Amino acid sequence: MKKIIGISIVMFAFIALLARAQMTSFGSPEEQRYGMDLWQALEEVNLVGDKQIMAWPYEGNAPHGDKLVSLESEITVNGQTGSVIVKHNYGPDVSLKQVSNNPQQYLMATTVMFKREAYNADNQNWFFAKYLSDATYDVAPNGTPLVGSPTGCVTCHTAAPGGDMVFLNDKY
Ligand code: HEC
Repeated sequence: MKKIIGISIVMFAFIALLARAQMTSFGSPEEQRYGMDLWQALEEVNLVGDKQIMAWPYEGNAPHGDKLVSLESEITVNGQTGSVIVKHNYGPDVSLKQVSNNPQQYLMATTVMFKREAYNADNQNWFFAKYLSDATYDVAPNGTPLVGSPTGCVTCHTAAPGGDMVFLNDKY
């Protein structure tokens, strides 16, 4: 009987660990493929890329850039439509006018949140990704691409006001 209880405890701990790993999973092959489909969908509607829609930038803070442009829209990825928030991060030390005159030169990274149906309830189905200016993924210190539910993005955005994981507004 003791043995059964012991085994049950070990199994329970293992399942809890698996559930936790699932919650913060990112950079899997599936997530990397999906993140590239997401980028392509954004490029098709000019939210990223050479023909990117530009807005007047605003002063930013860490961890996002020195100057920022945030754009909200709806896009369709692999046949599924959802809200998307794209944030372009410019820097390292530039004026608003420099960014406005030459956005592509100062673009350091693009961080994206896409409401992906049935993706991850723990994240309210937000699919996160961080792309560098050449459209490749930025990576964690261990080399894992920051796409899916990166621990850093999820942990910090969970604290956003309104309980929707979004800082800029509370409408999601
Ligand atoms: C330490 C906290 C922190 C981390 C880590 C973080 N963010 Fe943010 N993020 C913010 C804050 C604060 C804002 C709102 C202010 C601003 O515009 O920068 C924001 C804004 C955003 C927005 C615009 C929507 C919103 O929530 O207002 C996106 C998209 C975004 N972050 C994506 C990401 C991605 C992707 C990652 C991980 C690669 C990430 N963030 C990591 C704090 C963080």
